[in-house]
Amino acid sequence: NYMDILNIIEKKKNKQQLTKQEIQFFVDSVCNKTIKDYQTTSFLMAVCLNGLNFEETYNLTISMANSGKKIDLSDVGLCFDKHSTGGVSDTTTLVIVPILASLGIKVAKMSGRSLGWTGGTADKMEVFEGYRNDISVDDFKKLIKQNGASIISQQDDLVLADKIIYKLRSESGTVDNISLIASSIMSKKIACGAKFLILDCKFGNAAFMKTKADCKKLAKTMIKIGNRAGLKVVAIVSDMNQPLTNYIGNNVEVYSSIKVLKGEKNDLSTLATKIAEIAILEQGLAKDSLTAQNMIENSITSGMAIEKLKQIVTSQGGKTDVIEDENLLLPKNDCQKVYATTSGFVEEINTAKLGDLQHKLQQKNNVFERQDNISIILNKRIGDAVKNGEVIAEIYHNSFEQIDEIATNVLACFKIGGKRRKIKLIEEIIK
Ligand code: URA
Repeated sequence: NYMDILNIIEKKKNKQQLTKQEIQFFVDSVCNKTIKDYQTTSFLMAVCLNGLNFEETYNLTISMANSGKKIDLSDVGLCFDKHSTGGVSDTTTLVIVPILASLGIKVAKMSGRSLGWTGGTADKMEVFEGYRNDISVDDFKKLIKQNGASIISQQDDLVLADKIIYKLRSESGTVDNISLIASSIMSKKIACGAKFLILDCKFGNAAFMKTKADCKKLAKTMIKIGNRAGLKVVAIVSDMNQPLTNYIGNNVEVYSSIKVLKGEKNDLSTLATKIAEIAILEQGLAKDSLTAQNMIENSITSGMAIEKLKQIVTSQGGKTDVIEDENLLLPKNDCQKVYATTSGFVEEINTAKLGDLQHKLQQKNNVFERQDNISIILNKRIGDAVKNGEVIAEIYHNSFEQIDEIATNVLACFKIGGKRRKIKLIEEIIK
């Protein structure tokens, strides 16, 4: 075995194409733990440096998808799923799922944990005290039939290979590779059983894909993998050069999604309703975009969407007090204000750094009340005018000693200059 994996690593190091059997052997060895972590990461690094072609990427995806149990949703009916390639302050899932479920579209959503500087929906669902991400597959299916939707985390016995590889990637500098991201995401989507998928592919400084071109390449790779595996896939290419909302931190991000479900309009609502609109149109529930948009608006204004979120949360053991009164999610702990030291316009926001600072702050602070009331709230977005001395961000913490240093770092995330830039949130929709 040792010789075989060494041979596979050497082959990829020498830019050779791997066979289906070799890729299967790698995935099996990872799952059976017959290879060492350093061999796995060595292979992953070789992939990052020399790449996998489409055939190899597809084979890796399928081997990974088969590396655990698979969920069969055929008795539930056609289910919709959505996935983001990872961003900061992105709670579109929490907005989309209840809207679609309230309109009769079945949603089977398996969500991930935070990776690198990005957030994870599974972590955010736990803001609802008592919420269980880890219900059984039978309950997952039962709840989709009963409520029209369920949100769970990646189950232990599903896509075992991704669990192991994902962790090693995050610790070995091997996250930002198109084939590895595509196989990680698509293996989970295939194993989870939904046959209709919308991918939110992010580009920009807080995305794993920094350029639009790479992001589109990732989108197209995932669409091609999905189609070959029998899934209908639509990708939306969206900007991740600033946090999607002004709120960073699980509690306040959930706050921002509830605000949108109660009618607030901002970038989050724009992106979420666009994705919901695509789902509605693709499912044939509306004849055109305007009709679909009206259905979404009605779901929000009638209160159907927010009631659906309550039902989804309650069914999985979560408390809905914070849905009734989202202000409960706003931090009441110490606040360190961050002041602008120059006037002009916000030209850039180093969003990956902000996400990272939030994670660091969260790890180092003592958290007493809720699972997470540590947050960074921005007062300015790209294109906004700023005056010298104005508060551009607020950092909420629990008497954290190095807060001055964090504040200096948060300030450094803002580039203020003379240009009034505008961000185009949605770049393209690819089928
Ligand atoms: N999300 C995933 O699930 N996997 C990746 O590799 C990146 C983002």
